[in-house]
Amino acid sequence: MNTKMFLAIVLLMAVLFVYPVQIFAADANSAGTVKSIELPKPKMEGGKPLMEALKERKTSREFSGEKLPLQVLSNMLWAANGINRPDGKRTAPTAMNKQEIDVYVAMADGLYLYDAKENKLIGVLAGDIREATGKQPFVKDAPVNLIFVADFAKMGNMSEDQKVFYSATDTGYISQNVYLFCASEGLATVVRGMVDKPALAATMKLKSDQKVILAQTVGYPKK
Ligand SMILES: Cc1cc2nc3c(=O)[nH]c(=O)nc-3n(C[C@H](O)[C@H](O)[C@H](O)COP(=O)(O)O)c2cc1C
Repeated sequence: MNTKMFLAIVLLMAVLFVYPVQIFAADANSAGTVKSIELPKPKMEGGKPLMEALKERKTSREFSGEKLPLQVLSNMLWAANGINRPDGKRTAPTAMNKQEIDVYVAMADGLYLYDAKENKLIGVLAGDIREATGKQPFVKDAPVNLIFVADFAKMGNMSEDQKVFYSATDTGYISQNVYLFCASEGLATVVRGMVDKPALAATMKLKSDQKVILAQTVGYPKK
């Protein structure tokens, strides 16, 4: 076989095998993902004074279907667990500053991961998984369900008991930040432990080190 013929065969093989594999990979990727969303810069001024927000803080379980504008979503996520100092620390404290809690956002068009550093929602899954985020009927229609997921891999050499205790504690601060933001903005919210966690983890395609701690529904109150 001369060199020209050898090169022609290699080229043919590349076209026959490599190209379809690339197409298949591209399809597989686009089938399950949703586009990331750049969030507007969060507004860190305004809102009700703290004492008024505390006075208004409450759980509500009736939501209108109205979507949250991106600016409100951005403000809420920043209040929940955004970066508030140049050293990268957050609006919510974490034990030993492990920052192990990820805030996932389930909306009608997909599941997203809040990226506080880049101020964006990273597209995780296309499709509506809201119903899988809880056992109560309102979760499937409310515009936003937050899912607080602890990444035990970020918690270093803590014991399993410490990981469970601190990740639950750390989630509580984030949830209360959301409660106070909602009180300030006239939004309705409920934090929820009634979640089928293994089923939700499977739906979200979480890794074994990622643990669902709580979920929290947010929306406008039903009129
Ligand atoms: C850790 C935790 C888990 C909760 N789980 C649920 C839940 O699954 N479903 C629900 O409707 N409310 C849930 N709640 C909300 C409580 O029922 C609510 O906070 C309580 O009744 C007090 O009402 P308040 O928040 O208006 O003060 C939970 C609250 C906490 C702190």
